[in-house]
Amino acid sequence: MSKITIIGGGNLGKSIISGLASSNLFEAKSITVVDKSKYNLQIVEKELGVSTSQDILSSIKEVKWVILCVQPRQLDGVLHEIKDVLTTDQILISTVTGTSIEEINEVVPNNKVIRVMPNTGAAKKLSMTCISANDNVKDELEIVVKMFDTIGETLVIEERLMQAATVLGASGIAFFLRFLRAMIQGGIQMGFHPHEAQIIAVQTAIGAATLVAENGTHPEREIDKVTTPQGCTIEGLNEMEHQGLSSSVIKGIMASYEKINTIK
Ligand SMILES: NC(=O)c1ccc[n+]([C@@H]2O[C@H](COP(=O)([O-])OP(=O)(O)OC[C@H]3O[C@@H](n4cnc5c(N)ncnc54)[C@H](OP(=O)(O)O)[C@@H]3O)[C@@H](O)[C@H]2O)c1
Repeated sequence: MSKITIIGGGNLGKSIISGLASSNLFEAKSITVVDKSKYNLQIVEKELGVSTSQDILSSIKEVKWVILCVQPRQLDGVLHEIKDVLTTDQILISTVTGTSIEEINEVVPNNKVIRVMPNTGAAKKLSMTCISANDNVKDELEIVVKMFDTIGETLVIEERLMQAATVLGASGIAFFLRFLRAMIQGGIQMGFHPHEAQIIAVQTAIGAATLVAENGTHPEREIDKVTTPQGCTIEGLNEMEHQGLSSSVIKGIMASYEKINTIK
């Protein structure tokens, strides 16, 4: 696989770099990270052995793949900075929330663009990455899928669903972690030390997700297996539902979705 440059070594950029650097697809030295912060760059260089640069223009020379990993408000500036040096065979991979392929192509009309929406699970090769591209980008799309397969699960989706993918997959990390925190707090209230409650809650979450992932079952089937009639699990589940658990999660997801459609 040829060289790759990631513009933006922040929260997500670091997670992607860490996954890609430990994959077999790229040698660490063929990955270049560009960031404004010298401190950020020193960390990734030291921890992951990748190349780093503060100079965007030189860092994208002779590079096949350019991952855009900056904040939405920073994207336009980056695109205008690189547009005159980009060659037409360079592929842009955008992680940026809320900016369409068409909008990117308005600034860089001659480059193929693929949109990806990973999450920070990438750092542990457990990202959920939704990917979309136009019909004329089929071959490159296959390669990008392979690239992101090295850092977790991938799903090719229609671009119109990218905002929904951001809420469910990327913000989803925060949603699950807030639920995990509540589980830990419940454990502490029942008498566990915080670190014990965390060990139990985290391993239980991994077990629950793995059951569904590996058995391919609907969550409710796995719930039925631990729900004895008139037992403590159904008592707890029903109380959570009386308090609005499912409803508040769905409402939260829809609030997040409404918000993302207003972000530019
Ligand atoms: N975090 C997630 O879980 C997640 C998931 C999916 C998608 N995304 C999307 O991924 C993108 C990056 O998110 P993030 O959380 O990683 O953001 P972030 O932590 O703010 O990282 C962006 C980095 O890019 C740097 N940067 C900005 N403009 C630059 C330039 N012209 N040259 C060099 N470096 C530059 C920033 O430096 P300064 O801070 O100094 O400006 C910052 O270090 C966003 O568009 C976000 O919507 C994020």
